[in-house]
Amino acid sequence: MEFIIKGGTIITSTSSYAADVYVKDGKIAAIGKNLPDDGIKIIDASGKYILPGAIDAHTHLEFPFNGTMSADDYFAGTRAAACGGVTTVFDFVTQKKGQGIREAVKPRNDLCAPKACVDYSFHVALTDLTDDVLEEFSTAADAGLPSYKLFMVYKKDGLMMNDADIYKALQRSKETGTLIAVHAENPDVIDLNIDKFKKEGKLSPWYHYLSRPEAVEAEADIRAIHWAKTLDAPLYIVHLANAQGMQAVKDAVNEGYEIYAETCPQYLNFTSDVYKREDGRNFVCSPPIKGKESQIALWQGIEEGYIDTVATDHCPFKQEQKDWGKDDFTKIPNGCMGVENLYPYMLSQANKGIISFQKAVELCAENPARIFGCTEKGAVEVGKDADIAIYDPNIDFTITNAKMHSDCDYTIWEGTKLQGYITATYVRGQQVFKDGKFIGEAGFGKFIKCQPRPIA
Ligand code: URP
Ligand code: ZN
Ligand code: ZN
Ligand code: ZN
Repeated sequence: MEFIIKGGTIITSTSSYAADVYVKDGKIAAIGKNLPDDGIKIIDASGKYILPGAIDAHTHLEFPFNGTMSADDYFAGTRAAACGGVTTVFDFVTQKKGQGIREAVKPRNDLCAPKACVDYSFHVALTDLTDDVLEEFSTAADAGLPSYKLFMVYKKDGLMMNDADIYKALQRSKETGTLIAVHAENPDVIDLNIDKFKKEGKLSPWYHYLSRPEAVEAEADIRAIHWAKTLDAPLYIVHLANAQGMQAVKDAVNEGYEIYAETCPQYLNFTSDVYKREDGRNFVCSPPIKGKESQIALWQGIEEGYIDTVATDHCPFKQEQKDWGKDDFTKIPNGCMGVENLYPYMLSQANKGIISFQKAVELCAENPARIFGCTEKGAVEVGKDADIAIYDPNIDFTITNAKMHSDCDYTIWEGTKLQGYITATYVRGQQVFKDGKFIGEAGFGKFIKCQPRPIA
């Protein structure tokens, strides 16, 4: 298989330039002006941008959560990814009590492999940090699984990990070249607030936000950063959504610590006012979407380089599932959709002049590839996988659920107007999306072994 993309402008995190891209056997084989094209299929990208496929570093497909299951299975979720220019997703595997790391991943990989339409890897959400599991960090990392998420919240006998466990995991990560990610919120304060609101009969989605407002997230960010600093261990904060936490990341980075911050499009585009809407329950996720001040701080963090990645936390629940909590926010399954919206949204922000196209590529492709050791991906460069999105900056696109490719029956992005849109997506040279239509195949996506970090 070979083809040449001609007439387009390549975007990297540092530059943009006109050149042809020659793809052969799934790899980017050459880049240059006027590459020879005799007998080779030509893709005309005149007036368009040639971008690395996005890497969504945070999805929850077929995710069993609080007694239910997220709406997109590995097929529907990766189909939606393909149609949004995402060529790799990092999905979360939850370790069951007593399981080893690779033991937890095996059945999830078996489930994912026949359904995946784009490439994928896993972060393992640890719930049982035994000595054996700590020991396994190094062998799991060598097997391509060097990143683990620890939840500071949710059920105390379930997903949640205690402070000592998180501390131990950070300590071990340093010795093994692995990376610890945290979901940072304070569970005890959340429980206290929920109990109070329940007693007062305050059960609308607005109280989901008020039960875990800015300070509840910030305190946990600061705590996790403090441990990472004490141990001089790298730390990745997932779905950062508040201004004070953002400031704590900035301070730590400026002191020389390796603290990475991820935020999500829902925090960049919406404010907590959505929880006052009639459909407020559809926006319920944790951490909740915060106020305007936090939104501004996150955009500033992007501009100044303290936000490293934008990923989606794609975890949709169908309307019927969200409706369980119509009259009681504590019964609303937590999570929002976004895998198909990530790249188009960030690129539209670039097209509107809010950020640069280079920044969008850095946040959505290059940085996640670098941070998670996904060395074959993340850039339009010779030798990398031919994971490519072609973007037409002149299309006006209004998001409606009918145009989306998730299995969910609504989208929180309904009516959002975007400037420009993806017209084609290639995964390892195989086209999976063309002019609004999914043309990929279940089972084409393959597991990507990530590289551990160099050990200091
Ligand atoms: O509300 C969310 N974010 N649901 C998915 C699980 C998580 O915390 O990432
Ligand atoms: Zn989380
Ligand atoms: Zn950073
Ligand atoms: Zn998540």
